[in-house]
Amino acid sequence: MLVVGNWKCNPDNLTKAQELFNLIQKGIKPSENIEVIICPPFVWLIGLKMEAKGFKLGAQDCFWATKGAFTGEISPTMLKNLGCQYVILGHSERRIYLGETNEMIAKKLKTALEVGLKPILCIGETLKERQQNKVNEALKKQLAILKNQNLRSNIQNLILAYEPVWAIGTAKPCDPKDAKEVLQILKCNEFVPSYIPVIYGGSVNSQNAKEYIKAGFQGLLIGGSSLNSKEFIKIIKTLEKNNS
Ligand code: PGA
Repeated sequence: MLVVGNWKCNPDNLTKAQELFNLIQKGIKPSENIEVIICPPFVWLIGLKMEAKGFKLGAQDCFWATKGAFTGEISPTMLKNLGCQYVILGHSERRIYLGETNEMIAKKLKTALEVGLKPILCIGETLKERQQNKVNEALKKQLAILKNQNLRSNIQNLILAYEPVWAIGTAKPCDPKDAKEVLQILKCNEFVPSYIPVIYGGSVNSQNAKEYIKAGFQGLLIGGSSLNSKEFIKIIKTLEKNNS
């Protein structure tokens, strides 16, 4: 099982990042059943790498080229060389605020897989799409980037994160029954290999975390609750209890 902490654009200095990381590390023993991955902002990755004990690090994005004249970008090779194993791609906040398109995400995904990172590809419908009964259609469009034959060689490293856009940071999590329905849709998609882990994200907390695992998800992508060490530790302990 995967538990991914997406810190987004937080905290605002390295000392606070190290404090949060140390609190989380102190509260959780490395376990065989649960892989904990922390995704801090790029600039805190080096500082946290020095301290990581039994924890994996991930980035929240990467560029589609391995190096070159791309001002401001961070390449997947840089992340890999830094000791990062995972990278979140296609998060809805990047799609919304940075204008990331499926085409851009497809290019990032291809390079990330090529350099040996494990991409956590985020997909999910908007509220409007859900209200108009277009969930299937929306997800199909986002998943079409997996059709690319060039991805096939490394696709076994892919992780899919179902994150309904309306459930992210809203304290309105998707009903686990509805999430389970979407999970079945994703598992039946022609471009999603059956062995790819699918995780859930969107207003996960210590009260609802285990419901998504019961619904069949193989992990969680946690934003807000991963910035609160006590809550994050509680989530992991709840999952450990249910897993043993
Ligand atoms: P949230 O964010 O847990 O704060 O809803 C999840 C995410 O954006 O990955």
